[in-house]
Amino acid sequence: DKGNYKHFMAKEIHEQPEVLGHTLSRYFDYTTNTANVAGAEKLNFNKLSRLLISACGTAYLAGLVSKYWFEKYARLPVEIDIASEFRYRETPVSGNDAALFISQSGETADTLASLRYCKENGAAIGAVVNVPESTIAREADMVYPTIAGPEIGVASTKAFTCQLAVLAALALQAGRERGVLSAEREQELVSELTEIPSLALKALAAESEIEKLSQPLSKADNALYLGRSTNYPLALEGALKLKELSYIHAEGYAAGELKHGPIALIDENMPVFVIAPYDSIYEKTVSNMQEVAARGGRIVLITDRKGAEESGGAAENTVIMPDMSDIVAPIIYALPVQLIAYHTAVFMGTDVDQPRNLAKSVTVE
Ligand code: F6R
Repeated sequence: DKGNYKHFMAKEIHEQPEVLGHTLSRYFDYTTNTANVAGAEKLNFNKLSRLLISACGTAYLAGLVSKYWFEKYARLPVEIDIASEFRYRETPVSGNDAALFISQSGETADTLASLRYCKENGAAIGAVVNVPESTIAREADMVYPTIAGPEIGVASTKAFTCQLAVLAALALQAGRERGVLSAEREQELVSELTEIPSLALKALAAESEIEKLSQPLSKADNALYLGRSTNYPLALEGALKLKELSYIHAEGYAAGELKHGPIALIDENMPVFVIAPYDSIYEKTVSNMQEVAARGGRIVLITDRKGAEESGGAAENTVIMPDMSDIVAPIIYALPVQLIAYHTAVFMGTDVDQPRNLAKSVTVE
């Protein structure tokens, strides 16, 4: 049932404040402001020298965000790979390892094969899945469910942000168990994370603005997405969503990689989405934007008030997000990124919930 929405995707985007609230309250204890992941001990965070993560598509990009978190907050090195690569590259895995698999459907063939490979080699297996009765959920040693509810639209939206919420909890719990995250810092981070449902609502308030700027975009042949740090995976996610929904060719890049090739693509016909909250590396992104603007590129900047003030006029359009801390930014900034792809596709008249050539659950290689 789509309720009052035209598409399941729109409904699922708008459900995020609520389902993120459900997922967060499952994994955080708000009376003590601590991460509280049942079954986290199965992964032996305090004994690991690395954590393996494997997944496909958008779920892989959630894993990529979490690499920044596990490394920063838990000092735990993460090796992450696309499941279709991981399963065949014969990477050494042993009983000293833990491996995390992320999947909305819990049925993705490559992710399942990667899980089985790690299991055969003795690793502890954790799964972040949205469908609790799925094969991946059944075969894992420990399941960390996302409480996103059924996701019908083929393009993953609410499952992605709920995956991020679960992964944030695992990263903070790992930090505590490894003795590298102080109790004060954990409490501070958890109280920041509790703001997510209300911040997500505020982010959705930018929708009409985004709808307006999606109309000209629907005439573009190509688009570029740029971001740094945890917003780099979001740039990849923005490009993936735009491709699959609107069939516009799009690429995501780490902003710092621009001058190593993709800048050659920039001209006045190239829309460039820059995902950049005002944070410690914002200034670096501003200089990337200036390089794009100098070559006529048309920038849509997704940032906050301070970021808009400090952007040096490089952006043609700015989408303003509420102020928020670093750890919540990739979860909240996912919403405008989803809305850009959604509204562009609606303008183009493509089948938003069932894009051509795609299936919701990829059970074959
Ligand atoms: C993109 C998308 C896909 C899935 C991928 C993995 O919007 O939905 O990239 O994320 O096929 O699917 P799951 O999460 O079911 O393993």
